[in-house]
Amino acid sequence: MAAALRILLLTHSFNGLAQRLFAELAADGHEASVEFDIADSVTEEAVALFAPDVIVAPFLKRAVPESIWRRHLTLIVHPGIVGDRGPSALDWAIQEGEASWGVTVLQAEAEMDAGPVWASREFPLRAASKADVYRNETTTGALAAVREALARVPEWRAGRWQPRPLAQIADARGRLRPSMRQAERALDWARMGSAEILARIRAADGFPGVADALFGQPCHLFDAHPGQRPAGCEDAAPGTLLARRDGALLRATADGAVWIGHVRRADSPHPFKLPATFAFAAEVAEATEAAALSKLPATLMAPAGADPAALGYRELAYRETDDGALGVLSFEFYNGAMSTAQCRHLLAAIGFARGRPTRVLVLDGGAGFWSNGIHLNTIEAAPSPADESWANIEAIDDVCLALLGLSDRITVAALRGNAGAGGCFLALACDRVWAREGVVMNPHYKNMGNLFGSEYWSYLLPRRVGEDAARVIMRNRLPLLARQAAAQGLIDDCFGADRADFAAQVEARARALADDPGLAARIADKARRRAADEAEKPLAAYRAAELDMMRRNFYGFDPSYHVARYHFVLKSPQSWTPRRLARHRELGWRARAASAA
Ligand code: COA
Repeated sequence: MAAALRILLLTHSFNGLAQRLFAELAADGHEASVEFDIADSVTEEAVALFAPDVIVAPFLKRAVPESIWRRHLTLIVHPGIVGDRGPSALDWAIQEGEASWGVTVLQAEAEMDAGPVWASREFPLRAASKADVYRNETTTGALAAVREALARVPEWRAGRWQPRPLAQIADARGRLRPSMRQAERALDWARMGSAEILARIRAADGFPGVADALFGQPCHLFDAHPGQRPAGCEDAAPGTLLARRDGALLRATADGAVWIGHVRRADSPHPFKLPATFAFAAEVAEATEAAALSKLPATLMAPAGADPAALGYRELAYRETDDGALGVLSFEFYNGAMSTAQCRHLLAAIGFARGRPTRVLVLDGGAGFWSNGIHLNTIEAAPSPADESWANIEAIDDVCLALLGLSDRITVAALRGNAGAGGCFLALACDRVWAREGVVMNPHYKNMGNLFGSEYWSYLLPRRVGEDAARVIMRNRLPLLARQAAAQGLIDDCFGADRADFAAQVEARARALADDPGLAARIADKARRRAADEAEKPLAAYRAAELDMMRRNFYGFDPSYHVARYHFVLKSPQSWTPRRLARHRELGWRARAASAA
């Protein structure tokens, strides 16, 4: 490991990349603290308090003040290749179909993103949304590049190493590009084919979306997927809405169709991202009534011999290995948020899987997120957010209960992506929990306005880590790396260098479980343990106690949860850095730091 450094993470918000760096750098032995980029004077104060060896800025929306970078080494993580400059790095790369892209760590100077280069990484650019690439390849590359840069700090201080000024990097492919405007994102449905429309919406996902219109109403589009025109719609004019499935709408392009999963209607009382059919509920109902919009049923399991890809966009997918020993249930819920309806669909899918004669059932969630618990946006948009919170928590609890009740086979939660709040505890309802290297878990609720939480966490968490560790995890409210979670016994294992490697290893390990001659004994053991636990304290009692506390969160006199949810959904700017992150603001940390040194 490189020399331990005192690192201030200066960031617009504690986003996934900032969480990963914070947890990884601390695990590397550095002392990391976080300050949100709120105002120059606040940053100056943080720097004065913490006296960092280096400031690392993983996610900023404005330039670092000169008063900081002139006096303190400040490294910026830019989500672009060497030489790329500007605030829409990934947007341009995705929209223009770059074959490869990258991430650069550079030193802050007067011109934004133009300082000397400390380290960089490149990767092949997948056809995926900006948010998905950012959470995966960009985050992995950023961590490697930041580690490389930090290892150079002592040499740089000693004058033995210098970062490369951009002007001297002859092979720098990147260039200065402006902020991408909506005019450059605009969709021409009459002329553009599906590939171009997909690229444009993906380049703008999760923010800012592409300004367009549905049902004649202005809105921003997100969450686009390839589609096919259904039978009878071959001649529909481009731009026509053809069908709906789950929360998504199928729209004709010049050469086919695309699914639009989410929209934001700025002109509505709920100006935040919602499932498309939810945001346009009245229009969808009217069009369906007039037989102008058909509901296309989703197929959960592809018929034998059929190509699953031909089934098109669907949130839930179930498949089995050829010998039928292993079932795999995926749930691709946008942003990992699970609404009441989505929980009920998932419950039905688990019911279907239960009826199949498999020995092991793998729940591999979504590629981006495994789950982030109840759907705070649909709750916020409901006529009564309290009632909808209640319905949603009951629905997700039912999913947990169904998993806990799968007594005739082994269940595995395979976390391809991050999991947060109720989504973490949902995973713990499985017999085995495996996570990909680099996955970040947030196994706590209190950041959402002191939410007590349900999902049988009061049974599942102590069962895995013991009462004391459970209390610490819940109280710390910090992101936990998958390998730390495995070391603590919160999950069973962490492996797989990337998504493909993880998927291959999950299948091999699940197969080994299914083929293990000791499987029957394992299943019997599981049933025995569950029965013993039930005799000691029934699951219904855990649920009732949790829901009793949740009732206070939803309907009680303290509105903290409703206030926190509102700010989360509306993405209100941060006005201060929480103390659990801004360690330099803890009273007495200096004394502790000095005695530890
Ligand atoms: N409901 C609705 N949307 C959610 C969500 C939820 N439960 N959890 C995350 N999202 C959305 C975010 O709003 C964001 O939307 P965007 O596409 O408009 O940017 C997106 O998912 C990614 O979330 P973000 O917060 O940027 O990801 P992160 O990696 O920085 O942080 C979490 C992950 C889980 C820590 C954070 O998203 C979070 O606290 N989520 C809420 C969890 C929760 O309290 N659930 C309810 C109790 S069970």
